[in-house]
Amino acid sequence: MQSEEAAGDKDKQMMKIAIIGSGLIGRSWAVVFAHAGHQVVLQDTDEACLDKLADTVMQEAAILYRHGLLADPQSVREKLTITGDLSSALTGADFIQENGPERIEIKRSLFEALDQLAPSDIPIASSTSAIIASQFTKNLSGRHRCFVGHPVNPPHLVPLVELCGSPWTSSNILEQAYQIYAECGMVPVRIKAEKQGFVLNRLQGAVLAEALRLLHEDVISVEDLDKTMKDGLGMRWAFMGPFETIELNAPEGADDYFQRYCSLFRDMAAEPPGQTVFDPSVTKTIVQNWKTRLGKDDILRRTAWRNERLASLSAWKKQRNQEEV
Ligand SMILES: NC(=O)c1ccc[n+]([C@@H]2O[C@H](COP(=O)([O-])OP(=O)(O)OC[C@H]3O[C@@H](n4cnc5c(N)ncnc54)[C@H](O)[C@@H]3O)[C@@H](O)[C@H]2O)c1
Repeated sequence: MQSEEAAGDKDKQMMKIAIIGSGLIGRSWAVVFAHAGHQVVLQDTDEACLDKLADTVMQEAAILYRHGLLADPQSVREKLTITGDLSSALTGADFIQENGPERIEIKRSLFEALDQLAPSDIPIASSTSAIIASQFTKNLSGRHRCFVGHPVNPPHLVPLVELCGSPWTSSNILEQAYQIYAECGMVPVRIKAEKQGFVLNRLQGAVLAEALRLLHEDVISVEDLDKTMKDGLGMRWAFMGPFETIELNAPEGADDYFQRYCSLFRDMAAEPPGQTVFDPSVTKTIVQNWKTRLGKDDILRRTAWRNERLASLSAWKKQRNQEEV
């Protein structure tokens, strides 16, 4: 979620941002960039998606408005153009954010087209969750300008973006992207080496693997596992990282913490969950025993509920951060 300061910065250069693929992530990026004052072109190949795009983007802008995070939702609408045509979306673009499906062959063909059609030397970011850029940019003549800018769903309410280049990505392009994201109120982090899943999804995967193991071994129910996170670990993790957290969990700080607890964690690490916890035989049983699981029709309602709470949390964090400056 971008700050009002970023959105109100009059000296900032207005750019044309091309959003390629306008599903869940693309349309949320549109709110980020339009809120920051940039012109945004949303492109997609699906007519049904294009038809409702303006309304869905505006629903998200309205959430920001309700929580005091956006002064004028109409200003977002005025910045949007919607098209099914790739080359017109790219004409005059200053920055591209690709959000097509998470499939390597689609990323390869999309990046080939983007590199051919986009103005030369502009940054081209992929929102990919886990695929490293060298796997889909290797043979492109403009591969120096391609990289990963991986957000968290939904980027207009969760500010982190992971920046990860390939060995041939120009450091200048990565620096430009860092500045652009930061000026839009995002919180960019630099991933220093290509690693499948980058950092966020490796952490998410580690938590999920252990949770699946504990459910599979019938140590806890799904509902109590979720409480352990939202009413336990997650309470601190909404505003502190795991290292900031452990520093306060022993009277003399991090060294003291590791001395007290490393042997415990070493013992647990000796029995990792293993990849079989992701087998369908395990996940299907867990889903069957998940009493509070949502029906398909409830997903949209629950997503709106989540976004209201995320906006509320963002407003609270913004206020507390300002008070602490
Ligand atoms: N959903 C998440 O939690 C999440 C979080 C971070 C990153 N991502 C990544 O963002 C990307 C998009 O994910 P999503 O969740 O928005 O998926 P989605 O299915 O909601 O959206 C993908 C969109 O791409 C469109 N599309 C398909 N082929 C296209 C093409 N050739 N050109 C243009 N558009 C095309 C589809 O019509 C669809 O609207 C993926 O790489 C995903 O891994 C997803």
